[in-house]
Amino acid sequence: MAVAQELTIGEMVERCGVPASALRFYEREGLIRSRRTSGNQRRYGRHMLRRVAFIRASQSVGIPLAVIREVLDFLPADAPPTKEFWERASECWRKELNSRIEKMERMRDRFTECIGCGCLSFEQCQLMNPEDKLAALGPGPRRL
Ligand code: FES
Repeated sequence: MAVAQELTIGEMVERCGVPASALRFYEREGLIRSRRTSGNQRRYGRHMLRRVAFIRASQSVGIPLAVIREVLDFLPADAPPTKEFWERASECWRKELNSRIEKMERMRDRFTECIGCGCLSFEQCQLMNPEDKLAALGPGPRRL
């Protein structure tokens, strides 16, 4: 039996486990593409399965869709992500995740300092105003 080169949206849902609404959203966002039949039904190339897998794997580690799109833009429109492509992207994701982990650790430490304070001051609290250099000197007025 010949394998169909194109999939309906229902077949994509079945193969990917991704809701049709998400597939339509990815398409509106330019992450995947389909062609339309004369009856205006979507048909997806089989390589879109790997694109969806790439998107879902990236989303599962918190990578924003805008960043995923930027990376997918390096691929020709009709090419599936290759193993090498995924390896390079996942290396980028690792750096992004490490950066986020460091930021979360800093936030956790600042939060620990806030426990028992409760001032929630926009001028003094580093959580309220993380870029405030005066806050790095500690709570309380610094210009008096
Ligand atoms: S609540 Fe954050 S420094 Fe007071």
